Amino acid sequence: MPGLLLGDVFPNFEADTTIGRIKFHDFLGSSWGVLFSHPKDFTPVCTTELACAAKVSDEFKKRGVKMIALSIDSVEDHHNWSKDVMAVSSSTAKTLPFPIIADHNRALSIELGMLDPDERDSDGLPLTARCVFVIGPDKKMKLSILYPATTGRNFDELLRVIDSLQLTAQKKVATPVDWKLGDKVMVIPSLSDAEAAALFPNGVTTKEVPSGKNYLRYTQP
Ligand code: BEZ
Repeated sequence: MPGLLLGDVFPNFEADTTIGRIKFHDFLGSSWGVLFSHPKDFTPVCTTELACAAKVSDEFKKRGVKMIALSIDSVEDHHNWSKDVMAVSSSTAKTLPFPIIADHNRALSIELGMLDPDERDSDGLPLTARCVFVIGPDKKMKLSILYPATTGRNFDELLRVIDSLQLTAQKKVATPVDWKLGDKVMVIPSLSDAEAAALFPNGVTTKEVPSGKNYLRYTQP
């Protein structure tokens, strides 16, 4: 993903979407945001992803995260495709609960480095990869994930990651492998033991290791 790095201010692009023309920062307001791209409308993996995204949209809402999808077809195609998506989704919503950006000329996909050179449409033009960008309330990019068109994403994993991003934005902790909300977290290495003891009233436990170094420090946030 050339050009855009973690911590960069996400571009304040303008785009046509299924809810009309938007300016991205205005769309986000003071919320967190997740933008996820799709190779093409009316394709099988994308349809399963959007159907799942619709089903779990309340979980994103609970976390204060605005969702927006992108695909390289027109707004009209997006509206028609959304009907298929909702027909196969087990969401209780009647219509797709988030907008889809129409990037029919691929301008945004090029700007954000989202094209997958290995996947092409019938005219030989590259399709969009499966990118995920999580944007913080400060409009800075907090996470990016890039999957090829042939591999669908896992929206439970996105929610898990967002839980980690939101927690670690507030507290001087890091989340270990397979962490889930409610699990113990790790004290970040830059904190001294004295600072950690002062910051974490639930206490800090240290796992002993052969090196004798006290770096595996856990706390309940
Ligand atoms: C799909 O969504 O199923 C798909 C789209 C482009 C290439 C491969 C799969």
